[in-house]
Amino acid sequence: MRIAHFSDIHVLDLTGVRPWAFANKRAVGGLNLLLSRAREYSQQVLARLVDDVNQQRPDHILVSGDISNLSLRAEFVRAREILDRLSLPPSEVTLVPGNHDCYTRSAKRRDDFSDVFAPYLRGDFVAGDRVEWPFLRIRGDLALVAINTAHPSLPLLAVGTVGERQRQAVARLLADERVADRFRLVMLHHPPHVANAHWHNRLTDSDKFVEMLSEAGAELLIHGHLHRTLRHQIESRHGQIPVVGVNSGSWLSPKDATRRARYNIYQIEGRQLVRIEQRSYHPDADAFIAD
Ligand SMILES: [Fe+2]
Ligand SMILES: [Fe+2]
Repeated sequence: MRIAHFSDIHVLDLTGVRPWAFANKRAVGGLNLLLSRAREYSQQVLARLVDDVNQQRPDHILVSGDISNLSLRAEFVRAREILDRLSLPPSEVTLVPGNHDCYTRSAKRRDDFSDVFAPYLRGDFVAGDRVEWPFLRIRGDLALVAINTAHPSLPLLAVGTVGERQRQAVARLLADERVADRFRLVMLHHPPHVANAHWHNRLTDSDKFVEMLSEAGAELLIHGHLHRTLRHQIESRHGQIPVVGVNSGSWLSPKDATRRARYNIYQIEGRQLVRIEQRSYHPDADAFIAD
């Protein structure tokens, strides 16, 4: 089974934004971004990413958050148009939100993310059209647990939280008899590894989350958020859990080629992670190429 993983595509679309929308946190985050970063997250690179993922013919696709910049509905709608070009249907493409997808309190209240991406967020065993966190998707040998760590924070902060209710639900899912014999892949936006994040962008309850994981076990944990290629592991009662972070999928990163747009493909056989392939964007070729 081949599973593609990309992250932090940060789609920008200011259609329909009125000036008052920038009166709150967006004034700080938005202005910084518009001035310095927005042009570096390239729509063209993202189009190439979608083409390349499709050519790789994965069995499932994972997107670990920060789909947007400012949680604007126009951004979500544009991102949805892009994700809809993936060759797999939404039932085989799974998303979690990042801090940029729940940027302000009004964005959280409206929850356009759940509304626009609903088919990508539909858990097995969830009645009707409701979006529930965490959710579980079982696909062959894969049992995928998707966690929402996104919540609004003060300007210049980018923290996330699993929360007690969600943490307990994840523990139950990882031990569920439908899940326990499968390849348990856990996805969240924020890295659980304290050492990787700074105070301003950390997972606030990483200690408790890691403690839960070390009891429950999992076969792979993936995240985004830091726009870096990261490999770590969490020691668990059941063996080591690999923890993998990926670069942004659309960032040109003009100053540092190691952080340029990249995505991963996980080759899984039964309960084994056999191989991680990295594919990176090369501006000269205008294409993603295997590292
Ligand atoms: Fe991001
Ligand atoms: Fe983030």
